[in-house]
Amino acid sequence: MRSHFNSRLGFIMAAAGSAIGLGNIWKFPFEVGESGGAAFIIVYLFFCFVLCFPILVSEIAIGRRAQRNAFGAFKVLGFPRWAVIGLLQVVVSLFILSFYNVVAGWSFGYFIEMLIGNFAIGEQFPQYVQNVPRIMVYSLLFMVVTGYIVAQGVSAGIEKYTKLLMPILILIILGLAGYALTLPGAKAGLTFYLVPDVSKITLDVIYNALGHAFFSLSLGLGGLMTYGSYLDQKANILSSAVAVTFMDVMIAFMAGFMLFPFVFSQGIATEGGVGLVFMALPKVFASLGSVWGIIIGGLFFLLLSFAALTSTVSILEVSVAYLRDEHRFSRVTAVVVSATVIFLLGIPSLLANGSSEFFTNFMNYGGVSVDFMTFISDLSSNTFLPLAGLLISLFVGYIWRPDQLIKELSSDGYQTIPIWVAVYLKIALRYICPVILSLIFLFTVLEKFFGVQVIG
Ligand code: PFF
Repeated sequence: MRSHFNSRLGFIMAAAGSAIGLGNIWKFPFEVGESGGAAFIIVYLFFCFVLCFPILVSEIAIGRRAQRNAFGAFKVLGFPRWAVIGLLQVVVSLFILSFYNVVAGWSFGYFIEMLIGNFAIGEQFPQYVQNVPRIMVYSLLFMVVTGYIVAQGVSAGIEKYTKLLMPILILIILGLAGYALTLPGAKAGLTFYLVPDVSKITLDVIYNALGHAFFSLSLGLGGLMTYGSYLDQKANILSSAVAVTFMDVMIAFMAGFMLFPFVFSQGIATEGGVGLVFMALPKVFASLGSVWGIIIGGLFFLLLSFAALTSTVSILEVSVAYLRDEHRFSRVTAVVVSATVIFLLGIPSLLANGSSEFFTNFMNYGGVSVDFMTFISDLSSNTFLPLAGLLISLFVGYIWRPDQLIKELSSDGYQTIPIWVAVYLKIALRYICPVILSLIFLFTVLEKFFGVQVIG
């Protein structure tokens, strides 16, 4: 018997826990910072609601109908060739977790630094991430905790811990954002954050916003498909999907409300890249004095670690479910094997921030040197996730067919699906998603490989 989530809330918390992660609190603000503030946000929101939502619903529905992992689901539905999408997802999940776990390790390490009141860590970030043994211990610890939760199973592990952690996370972020808005830099921060400059919308911004929308909603990686396979036939997929999408977008938004006032109050540049949160925030916490600094700083990095944990759990579950369903591994063996492979795959990312010259200057993009972690993160989120999304929309739009999707969403007539939603999903999956995703890929290939500037 396949295990299932015990309650509707349990599924929503697990799925929202997957979506809400480092992407919202660490990545979203620096993407916004690098891509010109609110212009990025507009494009991002468009992608989330118009393009990604139908794919999100599809992923959950495919998983629920098949009651199988991301790879096996396509076989169960009767389209074994399309299982290549699932394979792509399982492989990409390993790579994404490999670098994600390193950043999660930094976050947890920073939580410890805040607790001992070491606010100077912000300036020492470049040295901090080069301390290989220390980061390795933190990432290993993170992987062990993730593995422990996943090993407990769907309801006694994933559901139980996400239900506990998500409300804490929401309270912490609301508290911190409320506090940040009272700081002197709040106005300048919010202006940067909320006033769009449309001239900043270039193809790169569009491409990054698309990748980020997929990454942030945990799409194209099989995580939601796998979670969907633990839903029973009566669960209301549509309303759960709406809840997850709104929660994800809201938390990213709140993260900006928290971060930009913080950053502007210290006069720090917004283009800090991957280090933005790690370099800028300790300074802010230091300015609060030691007691409040420790409390607020500790809470922030605890928030980041919890957010990361509920996401790492969902990414690990993709390969665990695959190994269990397809290769008859026990849950514990599947966890140990997947976690070990992922941890080893993460070593180049761990060395990519200065410890190894080779991985630090791994690639050269038009004269700019790119480290391995950025390379693998950009390649997976900006290319492979939307590619999987494109294939899923084609699969549902033309192969499985939208009426099967609608039938699944309505739990064979048990739930009512508003007609306009059914029509929209059909149009989106057959036309809007494939056309927009293909165009973005095409334009990017034209620009990157042939130098033809199509947008911006
Ligand atoms: N959505 C997560 C975040 O924003 O941090 C990252 C993620 C989790 C991506 C699960 C993909 C996934 F399947």
